[in-house]
Amino acid sequence: MALIKKKKAKDANYISAKESRKISNENRKITNEIEKQRNRKNVPREEYITEMKDPNNVVEFDDLHTYFFTDIGTVKAVDGVSFNIPQGTTVGVVGESGCGKSVTSLSLMQLVQRPQGQIVKGSIRLNTGKEVYDIAKTPSSEMQKLRGNTVSMIFQEPMTSLNPVFRIGVQLDEVIALHNKKMSKEDVKNRSIEMLELVGIANSKGVYKMYPHELSGGMRQRIMIAMGLACNPRLIIADEPTTALDVTIQAQILELLRNLKDKINSSIMLITHDLGVIAEMADYVVVMYAGRIVERGTAKEIFDNPSHPYTIGLMNSKPVVGKKVDRLYSIPGKVPNPIDMPNYCYFRDRCEKSVEECAGAYPHEIYLSATHAVSCYLFNDKKGAVGNGR
Ligand SMILES: Nc1ncnc2c1ncn2[C@@H]1O[C@H](COP(=O)(O)OP(=O)(O)OP(=O)(O)O)[C@@H](O)[C@H]1O
Ligand SMILES: [Mg+2]
Repeated sequence: MALIKKKKAKDANYISAKESRKISNENRKITNEIEKQRNRKNVPREEYITEMKDPNNVVEFDDLHTYFFTDIGTVKAVDGVSFNIPQGTTVGVVGESGCGKSVTSLSLMQLVQRPQGQIVKGSIRLNTGKEVYDIAKTPSSEMQKLRGNTVSMIFQEPMTSLNPVFRIGVQLDEVIALHNKKMSKEDVKNRSIEMLELVGIANSKGVYKMYPHELSGGMRQRIMIAMGLACNPRLIIADEPTTALDVTIQAQILELLRNLKDKINSSIMLITHDLGVIAEMADYVVVMYAGRIVERGTAKEIFDNPSHPYTIGLMNSKPVVGKKVDRLYSIPGKVPNPIDMPNYCYFRDRCEKSVEECAGAYPHEIYLSATHAVSCYLFNDKKGAVGNGR
């Protein structure tokens, strides 16, 4: 018994029941306070209506911090993320599993699991065309109007998002009717069938009457896209939209997304860990690592001149046609524990190029061009580089 205790005490990740209770009490205090603030009635509009820094953007993430207050400690899932999505463009977000890509997009939809998940700092400005909302402060009742109309989301696994007990038509109709309250039943049905045709489903009238299990994975993903686009949103968030599909269907779905985006003149935030997909689709790329952005730039800049050792590692770990290698590169080590992040560069322990300075404070963002920024000490002495410090 004594031996087990000793062993447990030595394990840095071990937390006693007493400690856990203490953490959970503290968490409750913090989250109750935030929830109280959020759940106020009649929040004045001035609190959440704001202005874009650049009116050509649809979304501006500005120093976003989204934390999860769990019983074993605070997970800093998104820890100071800033980037823009310009109108009419596709912005790709890449990074290893667990680096905070989904939490960033869920923060924008106000779908982070509450009360333990909270935006604790920063803002997300969403431009509806008429007004600008700061999503971090927008009350839930207002957010409901924005979801689907201004911004909609296509999830990774369509079977978990479609309801298995209702026909496709019923589910599509519901979405369309919810956002177009004055439409007649007949018009709603026609619009649903039109949407099915738009996403390339040949037998649209037949599929309208089918259940989700009667469709293939690719068709289900098309239905999800039809639902997401039913109200011509200004921004489509696609979180790993093709991960569950084979490569031919993947190519078709990506093509479809690209065409529809141009048709309704919207923008896409494309989340994936597949650099091939990014290369094909994105205008801008954001590379995330452990809740922070390590590099961002235009797709050309990131692919022609990847600068952060992590981005270079990602590039090297993908197979290239015509290039013969004995064994595919993999980045050594693993992502640090999100509860106990080091106070130096999060990538340092896995980095093959780390230098002495890397043990210092987290590196500032350095601009290599007007659009290309990297957070790494290797670039600190680059001529003309400007740090915008955090
Ligand atoms: N509900 C939750 N409660 C506690 N921690 C969470 C919760 N949701 C996400 N996290 C944590 O937040 C971090 C970021 O998760 P996220 O889902 O954003 O990763 P991701 O980049 O989308 O990964 P993937 O590529 O696997 O989808 C992870 O460390 C995860 O464990
Ligand atoms: Mg994810």
